[in-house]
Formats: sequence, C-alpha cells, structure tokens
Amino acid sequence: MLVASNRGPVSYEVRDDGSLHSKRGGGGVVSGLSAIGPDAGALWVCSALSDGDREAVRRGVGEDGVLMLDIPADVHADAYNGIANSVLWFVHHMLYQTPLEPVFDAEFRRQWASYEAYNRAFAEALAGQAAPGAAVLVQDYHLCLVPGMLRELRPDLRIGHFSHTPWAPAEYFRMLPDDIRAQLVWGMLGADRLAFLTRRWAHGFMTCANEIDAERIQVYSPVPSEPKHIRHTGTGMPPLRTTWIGVHGLGADADFLRARSHEADVDERMAALRGEIGEGRKAIVRVDRTELSKNIVRGLLAYRQLLDDHPEWRERVVHVAFAYPSRQDLAVYRDYTAAVQRLAEEINSRYGTPGWTPVVLHVKDDFARSLAAYRLADVALVNPIRDGMNLVAKEVPVVSDEGCALVLSREAGAFEELGEDALAVNPYDVMDTARALHEALSMGREERAERSKRLAAAATALPPAQWFLDQLHALDQEAGQPA
Ligand code: F6P
Repeated sequence: MLVASNRGPVSYEVRDDGSLHSKRGGGGVVSGLSAIGPDAGALWVCSALSDGDREAVRRGVGEDGVLMLDIPADVHADAYNGIANSVLWFVHHMLYQTPLEPVFDAEFRRQWASYEAYNRAFAEALAGQAAPGAAVLVQDYHLCLVPGMLRELRPDLRIGHFSHTPWAPAEYFRMLPDDIRAQLVWGMLGADRLAFLTRRWAHGFMTCANEIDAERIQVYSPVPSEPKHIRHTGTGMPPLRTTWIGVHGLGADADFLRARSHEADVDERMAALRGEIGEGRKAIVRVDRTELSKNIVRGLLAYRQLLDDHPEWRERVVHVAFAYPSRQDLAVYRDYTAAVQRLAEEINSRYGTPGWTPVVLHVKDDFARSLAAYRLADVALVNPIRDGMNLVAKEVPVVSDEGCALVLSREAGAFEELGEDALAVNPYDVMDTARALHEALSMGREERAERSKRLAAAATALPPAQWFLDQLHALDQEAGQPA
C-alpha cells in the first residue's frame, strides 16, 4: 500500500548547531492517515516542504515508510502556492472576488506547467515504488493529475483518490479554462475510486465531470443522495472503465483526544487561559488556520454585533480566538492574518475595560493550548464559508469538560452529521451569527450538556483508523470491477 500527499507525516528543521530535528507534520490529511500507524507496511510518499526537509533528503535522513520527494523548490512553489492554494483552493471554496480575480493569464499557464511537473514527479515515484497490483491512495487537490498519470505508467495498480476539500458547484468550476477543467477531471478519473467527505462534494464532482464530456463520461447516481459510479472512456484507457465514488466522513479520534487533553501541559495552559478569560466568564472558542475560507473576520464582526445587540454580555463573555498562520508565502493569506489581528484589536479598544479583554487572540500554533481552550469552551464557533469537513467542530464537543454549544456554518461538511444538535448559521450573515451566539450563550446547562453528548457521539462515528480502512476495503472490492 502506498499513500501520496503533499504534506507528509514528518518535517525537519536545521538547528543552529547544524543538526536535524524532526517533528510530526500538521493538518487534517496527516491526522487521518497517521491512524494507519508505522507497522502497516505502507509507504508514504510526500514533498520536501522546508529547507530542513530538503537537507534531510540530501543527507539521506528519513523515517521508515516515508519517502520525501525533493522536487525543485520553484516548481513546488508554483504548484503549491500558485495553483493549489491560489486557484484550486479558491475555486472549491468559492473565494474569488471579482473584479480582480481570477485572471487566467500567461503566469497562470506557467504555474500550471509546474503543477503538471509536480504531479508527474509523484506519479513516477509511485510507479517506481509500487509492487504489482499494489493499492495507491492519493490525497487531495494538490495531486489531481496523479491518478491519470499513474494509470498510464502502471495499469496494474489499484488507485484511489481522496478529496479533503469541498468540490465546487459546476457553475463555479466552469470559470476555469476548459482544457484545465478537462485535465483535472480526466486526471481524477484515472482512479478506480474517488472518495469525498460528504455526499454534497461527491455530487459536485459528478456534475462537473458530466459537463466535461457527456458522451465519454457517463455518471450514474441511481438514488440522488447516493453517489455511485462513473463510466468513461479516456485516451490511453480501455473502453468503458468504471470509477467508483465513495463518501467517508472523517470523524474525530476520541481516544487520542480525551487522553491527550488531560496531560500536564494542557492543564498548565488551562490555568493560563483561565487567567486571561477571568473568573466566572463564558468562553466562545474558535481554533483555525488563518485562512480565508475559515471566515474568522466575519466571526469577529458577529461577536462585535453580539456586544452591541446584547450589552448584558459585556464583561461576562470572552471570545478566545486561535488563528494559526498558514500559507504565509502568499500575500492574500498574510493580509488576511493582518485583518484578523486589526479587528481583534479594534474590538478590544472599543469595548475593553481595565478588567476585561473581550477578544483573546493567539496566533502562535500550540496544540496543547488548543486542547485547553476546547476543554474550557462554553460555545464553539465554527463558521467557515465552505469547508470539506472541519474537524474542530467535531473535536470541541468531544473534549469540552462541561459540554459546549456549537454554532456551525451550514456550509461546513461537518454540518451533514452535526446539523441537528448545532445552531446553524449562514456564514455570510453576521446578524444571524450574532443571534446564534446569543442563543448558544443563553442555552441552559442541561440542554447544552445533552446536545454536546449527542454531538460528540456523531463526531466520533467514523474514527480515523476506520475511515482509512473503509477506503482501503472499498478499493479492494471495487477496483477493476465493471459497473
Ligand atoms: O483541507 C485540505 C487540507 O489539505 C487539509 O487536509 C489540511 O488540514 C490543510 O488543507 C492543510 O493545508 P496546508 O498543507 O497547505 O497547510
């Protein structure tokens, strides 16, 4: 079995004395896939992302079961920053703002060539490493072309692809140049099986695929809520291949979270956070990477609205916002981080009093502190514009000491599973979000605990290890099977 993803399970840093220090990689893909553990005999192929990673490759330092690809830094930057995080991320999360964006110009074409080269490097490495008939599980929007490229190199392999993001609606996807849309869809259709986090995203893909070439790509979804399979004929492929479609809603890892959140470093951070919040106050908690789809600015605007609409909450509530910088090589993400900081400061200077800081904002990534905030949360605010799943929405109810109320965007994948017990919001509607925050803060202790218990049960229904095994078993059963 092989796994391929941009970000791998480990990253390296060169210390001042020249030694290499390794640490566990971050992000949803890593949490989900780490569940397979080091003993599974899998090979995980990933990119060298930092100078430390490249140095580790050069020195031949590495972990068993991990192959880091040292793709030239400029090719990786164009593929990752230019195409994956500036184009594909924006399309699937519907983040573009006309009239300035998007512009598909010569620069875009140059970056696209790097995206192809980067995908080809993965396909060639996988083809070179895989035993006959091996299963290859390719992850995410960074590697959409790999299934098709790998199929041509190694038709014997069983290939799966998992999308950790939403998939754009067809009308939005159509803004991409026609040949690029076709390349993305045909690249994905090189897989035996495509899997998504929710039915909604699976349908998005099926609709987009159908639009590319309705004659050569036939989509079968007998029951609209149950995506099934796509039959297609592509260049270099035998006639009528079948690509199966699956939905696997990654859940929170309850055992790990409950144990980890009671370790000493989390207790220490709880004490510090309690000091920042102040005695007897309620906490509205959010934890995100600082990234546009997370909608942190509108979350702060909603909190400001709450303080205006319900002055009775002033001095009695604190918004604990952890916004960890992400993709800071790109100006649009840096500007967003700055906007979050500015607004938090503005709210604090407008409403704060000598004994009360309305927004406690931390931007330095600290997992133990995040868990401490989860434990203290009275309300969790998760209001993304669009999100493949959003694991924070699933983790807070599992960890919170006294049960929390969840204010949840209906556009998060997690809403499919948690919608019944969460307070639903339209993420663009700041007034509606302020109303939901008020409702969440006002919820009775018992109701909150009951709802939180049900949320935790739904959130842990498909733990990461099972999520991974389900995909592998489905690939075993379906790969190569005619529809
Ligand atoms: O949501 C897609 C995803 O790849 C997640 O799995 C992960 O948490 C996040 O994006 C990480 O992004 P990056 O690797 O750019 O930091």
